[in-house]
Amino acid sequence: MAIVVPCPSCAGQPTPAYTPPPPPAFLPALLLLLHSFALSLSLPRKDPLAREIKMVHLNRVATDKEVNAAKGLVDGMNKFTLAVEDEADDYTATVYGSKYAAEDLPRHEMPDREMPPQVAYRMIKDDLTLDGTPTLNLASFVTTYMEEEAEKLMVDAFSKNFIDYEEYPVSADIQNRCVSMIARLFNVPGNDDANAMGTSTIGSSEGIMLAVLAMKKLWANKRKAEGKPFDQPNIIMNSAVQVCWEKAARYFDVEERYVYCTADRYVIDPKEAVDLIDENTIGICSILGTTYTGEYEDTKAINDLLVERNIDVPIHVDAASGGFVAPFVNPGLEWDFRLEKVVSINVSGHKYGLVYPGVGWVVWRDPKYLPKELVFNINYLGADQASFTLNFSRGASQIIGQYYQLIRLGKRGYRRIMLNLTRTADYLSANLEELGFIILSQKSGEGLPLVAARLDEDLGKQYDEFAIAHQLRERGWVVPAYTMAPHSDKMKLMRVVVREDFTKSRCDALITDFKLALETLDAMDAKRIQHEKELTLHNRHAAQFHMRRRSTLIGAPGTPINKQPTQHFSDDHSLQAQHGKTHAVC
Ligand SMILES: Cc1ncc(COP(=O)(O)O)c(C=O)c1O
Repeated sequence: MAIVVPCPSCAGQPTPAYTPPPPPAFLPALLLLLHSFALSLSLPRKDPLAREIKMVHLNRVATDKEVNAAKGLVDGMNKFTLAVEDEADDYTATVYGSKYAAEDLPRHEMPDREMPPQVAYRMIKDDLTLDGTPTLNLASFVTTYMEEEAEKLMVDAFSKNFIDYEEYPVSADIQNRCVSMIARLFNVPGNDDANAMGTSTIGSSEGIMLAVLAMKKLWANKRKAEGKPFDQPNIIMNSAVQVCWEKAARYFDVEERYVYCTADRYVIDPKEAVDLIDENTIGICSILGTTYTGEYEDTKAINDLLVERNIDVPIHVDAASGGFVAPFVNPGLEWDFRLEKVVSINVSGHKYGLVYPGVGWVVWRDPKYLPKELVFNINYLGADQASFTLNFSRGASQIIGQYYQLIRLGKRGYRRIMLNLTRTADYLSANLEELGFIILSQKSGEGLPLVAARLDEDLGKQYDEFAIAHQLRERGWVVPAYTMAPHSDKMKLMRVVVREDFTKSRCDALITDFKLALETLDAMDAKRIQHEKELTLHNRHAAQFHMRRRSTLIGAPGTPINKQPTQHFSDDHSLQAQHGKTHAVC
């Protein structure tokens, strides 16, 4: 079969027929490819995982040389340019009959010309099929299901810029309704003098940044008024904090003071936390549902110690996940504004708030905890507005989605869902215990509806949690394994987040696959397991190698060291870098 290739230098001339090169001409290139692939498999074994770190969200832009190199699909082999006979078939060609189906999707350079919408849609959709399936991703807290009616409302609001209060006053009001409902759920004082405040954010991370800024400013103002130095603020938190706390401290120049976990305590020790306080402490973070084990930290104990010792230091509660769980499952638990030292709380709307990402909320007990100089009264786009956020423009969809969930479900609807999740988590815990796991998370609604577990070392298994995670991955499940926060003996654990769409029958399917995974690993002797481990690493390298070949992420094997993004930003400052803690997905 002859493929017609238009020749740019003889435009308008009859185009010569293309005859594929005879097979032997490929051989040198193919050998080169095999050689470079083999090289990629024999990368230094010393730190095999180090090369796997990818800069997914902070990427280096390709150089011209790299862009040109990327045009060849494999080393040493020039890419064929295939084009359809008639270039002007944009309107009649089917997607896969069009010239675009025979070309690469643009990666580095914006294309010179348009492409038909149905082609762009299909090409991107096809590309995205290589992403994982959200419902099988049990690593994440983030919502993967909403009702169609909610989705319709959210799609209708795509074109609304939430910040434009003048043009979209109802969207703005809907935010305020959500703030009010959430603050009241957290038991803000409701008396006549009460004056709680809150705002929507992109997620808990932004809420936490704002809360840290407010605590820092408040402390600094107090120190200034007393004529004392205010250049060495510190904040106290558990070493199992989510990475956004490390970021907040680092970005805003606040010293991190950690209460470290131990081999059998993964939450903050209230006494140790309060003992760490000095005159430069801006606040204490207490987590309602840690990312690793889902346990609720004892905010009441911290509060009571502060009261008992008459210490004027505020508590911020990071209720990213627990804020929409505890009030329904465990309403008697005192963790919120019922405690006098709690001045601010954040929650993620996109976790157990049951909204697609990204929406979060942060609420302050009283405006006196929000220093004026952080709040901007701006007259922009035609209306006066008070703004305390890190960014400005954003879509209104997520806020509307949150309002839908709050009024559609009401307290009873949320309670029914959260109780179901709690039962499913208990059921999964019981089954995993039978399979020889030690359960690290709480049961019966004492913590988040998740199951964190580790293998019982007394069983003398030859394999670890990472090997099990790998086996489950092969069956389509994403159940991550981690190394726990510092000072917990580098304990390994696995975590299954039970989300709204993880029903009992899906849970049964997971249990079956856990059993199969363990049987497969049990049937292997130590040598085979070691071999599997190495093979897994090799495969990961190979997958990485191939992914990089077709991805816009730069840093393929052979990239000079000073061009490797992870070298450029080598991290020697985080808890991960210093203690080997790995971050759980959120
Ligand atoms: C305890 C905790 N805090 C903060 C965050 C960050 O939340 P977000 O992803 O909404 O920014 C997470 C994420 O899982 C979390 O678990």
